[in-house]
Amino acid sequence: MSTQADIGVTGLAVMGGNLARNFARNGYTVALYNRTAARTRALVDEHGDEGAFVATETPEEFVAALKRPRRLLVMVKAGEATDAVIRQFAPLLEEGDVIIDGGNAHFEDTRRRERELREQGLHFVGTGVSGGEEGALNGPSIMPGGSKESWQSLGPMLEKISAKAEDGAPCATHIGPDGAGHFVKMVHNGIEYADMQLIAEAYDLLRRVAGYEPARIAEVFRTWNTGRLDSYLIEITAQVLAHTDAATGRPFVDVVLDQAEQKGTGRWTVQTALDLGVPVSGIAEAVFARSLSGHADLREASRELAGPRPTPLSEEAAAAFADQVEQALYASKVVSYTQGFHQIAAGSQTYDWDVDLGRVASIWRGGCIIRAAFLDRITAAYDKDPALPSLLSDERFAEETAAAQDDWRAVVSAAVQGGVPVPGFSAALAYYDALRAERLPAALTQAQRDFFGAHTYRRTDRDGAFHTQWGGDRSEADAG
Ligand code: 6PG
Repeated sequence: MSTQADIGVTGLAVMGGNLARNFARNGYTVALYNRTAARTRALVDEHGDEGAFVATETPEEFVAALKRPRRLLVMVKAGEATDAVIRQFAPLLEEGDVIIDGGNAHFEDTRRRERELREQGLHFVGTGVSGGEEGALNGPSIMPGGSKESWQSLGPMLEKISAKAEDGAPCATHIGPDGAGHFVKMVHNGIEYADMQLIAEAYDLLRRVAGYEPARIAEVFRTWNTGRLDSYLIEITAQVLAHTDAATGRPFVDVVLDQAEQKGTGRWTVQTALDLGVPVSGIAEAVFARSLSGHADLREASRELAGPRPTPLSEEAAAAFADQVEQALYASKVVSYTQGFHQIAAGSQTYDWDVDLGRVASIWRGGCIIRAAFLDRITAAYDKDPALPSLLSDERFAEETAAAQDDWRAVVSAAVQGGVPVPGFSAALAYYDALRAERLPAALTQAQRDFFGAHTYRRTDRDGAFHTQWGGDRSEADAG
């Protein structure tokens, strides 16, 4: 076997197969290996005419087919399967070769794998790949971590197969060392959960408060998609809502079981945020909303609990309410991204990754699930001030949320009055109000902690830690 392939792909299920085809369509010679050889043969039979493939049947043959430094993309189920594949291939590789993991791995696993392989002289690139099957084939957003050297050898190829933003820029960039890429992909997914939850709440409000039918709501979303909410998720929401179920003739959304599932990346985002001490309340509410929806027995047992019935709005009032929901959705979305970028900044600082936040926003403009016109504004905000403490402190976002806040509050109030759950909208608004508060009741929390646990408190007028002798006549004696 001559050593000719630019890259090898192992794990040829839909994502792996489509990425292999994407490389081949872009002029790269792609070696293929799959545990069951039938899958390799099927890919070559069906798509062999799309480019240059080298089908191999053993790991040794596969490795021998690759140009040096070898680039080997692993597309297997995240977790133990990834470790098994690494154990299988690492001994066959030589110093300077690169193993790339394109699955949704936990960034801590990626950090461990990178460390272990580095000791063997190999580069390990944990990379986020977003865009689902379609993106993998036609251009995903790609978020690779790993060494600078590995980016030098891999970067041009990833840029070539990636989605291109409207200005033609590739949606791939070197995120940072070791687990940085998978961390950023994880937060991408957390934001994806939050975006989806906010859209779901907007839909619920338009349905239950404004009294619109799904087809009408689809029109509203289509209109929103021509403005600042322009995004893939809004676009597909309009399509889903306009879809009629063929079997029943009913709106499709009405025949889908209302229990959302998850593979876990949103949950990881929140778990990690808790460890980092970053308040990602909007993302957390989105994860919990999915979890609550899945508790069918609990919901059944609670169905008779008392609550108001939304009073139907007039046509005119409904249209005005829909405009208010757009404001609330946009402002809440700004908060989700504010929280997500705070988490990336905190991860970057903790793990010393030096992630460029503006670049992250710019490679999410194309290919990925959360692609949106609005990401340009985030890049612009970080370009203007790379040390921006929070996206909400950017002048433009501050102005937009200021302009939205009355409607945002009105929508949350209407939801509360009407008994429609809006955990995403209200968590976002609470976060906004907490950030802008002059004083928070955390002062009282601190006093309580000192009272029952002598945990001490800090004062507004003096430095140091203080403890009050609570109770009895010594209650005013502070110990600095
Ligand atoms: C993407 C998606 C992708 C996957 C989600 C679905 O960026 O292409 O995020 O990674 O579709 O993980 O996640 P849930 O199954 O957890 O909703």
